Amino acid sequence: MIDARLAELADRLPNLRLLTAPADLEHYGRDWTRRWTPAPLAVALPSEVAEVQTIVRWANAHSVSLVPSGGRTGLSGGAVAARGELVLSLERMNRLLGFDAVDRTLSVQAGMTLHAVHDAAREQGLIYPVDFAARGSCSIGGNIATNAGGIRVIRYGNTREWIAGLTVVAGNGELLQLNRGLIKNSSGYDLRQLMIGSEGTLGVVVEATLRLTDPPPPSQVMLLALPSMDALMDVFALFRAQLHLQAFEFFTDTALRHVLEHGARRAIDGEHPYYVVTEFDADEAAQELALATFEQGVEHGWISDGVLAQSEAQAMALWRLREGITESLAPYKPYKNDISLRISALPAFLHEIQDLLGREYPHFDVVWFGHIGDGNLHINVLRPADMSEGDFIAQCEHVTRLLADTLQRHGGSISAEHGIGLVKRAYLGSTRSDAEISLMRGVRQVFDPKRILNPGKLFD
Ligand code: MLT
Ligand code: ZN
Repeated sequence: MIDARLAELADRLPNLRLLTAPADLEHYGRDWTRRWTPAPLAVALPSEVAEVQTIVRWANAHSVSLVPSGGRTGLSGGAVAARGELVLSLERMNRLLGFDAVDRTLSVQAGMTLHAVHDAAREQGLIYPVDFAARGSCSIGGNIATNAGGIRVIRYGNTREWIAGLTVVAGNGELLQLNRGLIKNSSGYDLRQLMIGSEGTLGVVVEATLRLTDPPPPSQVMLLALPSMDALMDVFALFRAQLHLQAFEFFTDTALRHVLEHGARRAIDGEHPYYVVTEFDADEAAQELALATFEQGVEHGWISDGVLAQSEAQAMALWRLREGITESLAPYKPYKNDISLRISALPAFLHEIQDLLGREYPHFDVVWFGHIGDGNLHINVLRPADMSEGDFIAQCEHVTRLLADTLQRHGGSISAEHGIGLVKRAYLGSTRSDAEISLMRGVRQVFDPKRILNPGKLFD
């Protein structure tokens, strides 16, 4: 080991797993954006909280930047280490710590995958309801760092709603126990909530206490084909008024084309510009109500076709059409926008943005999908084969500036659920006022006075 700082860390923590092989630096230094060339100093994989504290104190002493790291499934560059940072991977801290049947909480280490959290909750006859396609690889610590949303927000809210307590190593190495599982705690600032969505800039989440809830009633899944974007919001209003929705997701024909090319099976024949996958509570009455609601949508001219899943396998196949989109686009390294608006502001915004994107991306493949029931759209832009990556990013950043200005006028957010990271840092000011950003910087200064935690993410 050549680096004297690393040698000292290894000396302080002889049992710490420390990786410096080029393949490891590459693996742990990048996230799903794959835009930056990984260049971390090393990768530390602690196995206990005390080790994390020692690493943070060591980093303070040597002014080494740390990048807290979970499953690195992030799409905003929040876990990228491209400037000689030490990657602090929570991967080995992935144990279930306990279940409390009275409090209905699960205590876990931050490196546990979302999928493992789901399994652990299910074993207790309960659910942890936050869910999305990266469940098998993302970690609960990363979910907390970005206040992850996903496909069930319409029913259950974001990660924020499900965190009863956090154990965090602050930027100075101090251990904080935040909220300790309490339901009610009116005793000053809620530092737990401040940590959620802070993208690793205030502290390293090492453990979390998660609230669980009862499993939902049996559900049904329906795929709808729609003739226009206007119809999307009408169908949403109709379905929300008549059914108890668990999910309401949309995608375009372009998105469908990519998923089908990736091995999914077509469920509705013909050409339709928009599709919706919706899931709703299904007792016997709901089945009839769902069909009646569907018929009403058809009569209004808002729905062109539809399929109601007749089995669990068919429901999964319908969900695959929506959940498979990210993976089907991954080979193209798409430029991703993840925006949100109040649902009431969506129709006017969508019209404006359709014109804007048509004008600015005339020859690009632009793929729309997302959690329309939450006012959250994912706009993925694919690089034309004859364009360099640099020119492509420059063009996308130019359009993102226009998009950010439009969002600002409509009161929206430049990041709904992926976080700001490196990708959207330049546009933070379109969603947050100068006064807010200055307060955020001040908060950061208090928790991490030497700015060793994820510097460059969220703001410069
Ligand atoms: C999704 O909704 O599928 C995720 O946010 C991932 C993505 O946007 O690609
Ligand atoms: Zn999403």
